[in-house]
Amino acid sequence: MTMEQKSKHYVIKEETRKRCKVFKIDETSFKRFRKLNHEQFPVLKEAGSINFPIYFRAGDEMIEFIRPEEFSPLLIDQIKTTLEKPLGQIDVFVLVADYPKYQNAITSVRQKKYKHVLELDPTLDPKVMEVFEDLSAASQMIVKGGINNLVVTKAKEAVSKLMESQLESAVSIGTLSRMILCDSTLYDHSASVAMLAGIIATQLIKTPLSKEEVELVSQGGLYHDAGKTCVPNDILNKPGKFSPEEYDVMKTHTTLGNEELIKAITKGAPIDRLVAKVALEHHERWDGHGYPFGKKGRLEDDPHGIHLYARIVMIADVYSALIMKRVYKEAYTPQKAIAIMKDLAPTDYDMEIFEPFRNMIDKSIKLYEEKEKQLDKSHLIILGEKDSFANALRKLSHK
Ligand SMILES: [Fe+2]
Ligand SMILES: [Fe+2]
Repeated sequence: MTMEQKSKHYVIKEETRKRCKVFKIDETSFKRFRKLNHEQFPVLKEAGSINFPIYFRAGDEMIEFIRPEEFSPLLIDQIKTTLEKPLGQIDVFVLVADYPKYQNAITSVRQKKYKHVLELDPTLDPKVMEVFEDLSAASQMIVKGGINNLVVTKAKEAVSKLMESQLESAVSIGTLSRMILCDSTLYDHSASVAMLAGIIATQLIKTPLSKEEVELVSQGGLYHDAGKTCVPNDILNKPGKFSPEEYDVMKTHTTLGNEELIKAITKGAPIDRLVAKVALEHHERWDGHGYPFGKKGRLEDDPHGIHLYARIVMIADVYSALIMKRVYKEAYTPQKAIAIMKDLAPTDYDMEIFEPFRNMIDKSIKLYEEKEKQLDKSHLIILGEKDSFANALRKLSHK
């Protein structure tokens, strides 16, 4: 990091000081606040109103940035834009006591959005969307120091629902990528990794897994990035390439996530240790060039190998990251995502897992091409667009 970057920090504007209550916080008073997930909280823009204040922290000062009576989408946007800047030590909070209110607000906005996209895109599967919503509600609860029995129960319930629903893999995979097209704010990385990992684990031919094992793989997907809540936002949200130092910090999300989970397990949270192992090993790579340990191959063949669950989750993780929009890249189509992964596969993934996964993606792509052709014939007349359905949808959903 250069000196110039180091010295950058958020300066509270005079007008903000005039408009808002600003106060110093110390370790004790800080415990009253709960940090919000940056990807999720901008959804509040569409809440219409809120019944709790939102706080913004800059260094050791806390700003009561949005009081319920002055709520506006513009203020949410202001926080969102600031969080995306490389300023370090800034975060957004609600009072611990208000957290349930915050969650209710998020849930109701998301439900409205789900209903809307289901009306918009007839290729989306309502059952997949329902399971996904439960997984994403659980994933949003996973924050630093917040992995308690409530979170664990919610995660377990969501994963069992995924199992019970016996979703068709091609339809589930297709629905995930169509959802991004319709409304990218509904997507949730960890929820999609849980869903994809569960689907892959169910379809394994060479190593068939029991229902309980598949559930652990899927839980591993849900918690795999738990350590990211410990990585500073300016690094997490950095649009450009990481400096070697920043990359080293980023890498710690594997060991920190593992530690968080082990801590929760020690305190009595009913999480299997293999779930923590997934968080630790999901960035290892087949030929040993991954992190944090440079493990390679299969644990079944070599004591320094990568655990099967982590080998599954890493594939789901990369695919999910490729099809979603990130600050540094656009959302890739399933075709592009799988082409990129195919090139990486020999050095990165266990081919015995990757091959069936690739087949599933191919199957899903074909199925959705068919669905789209039919829609182009029937639906476009309704939409009044001389365009492909996908393009028409994109335009419609941005209105
Ligand atoms: Fe990760
Ligand atoms: Fe991830």
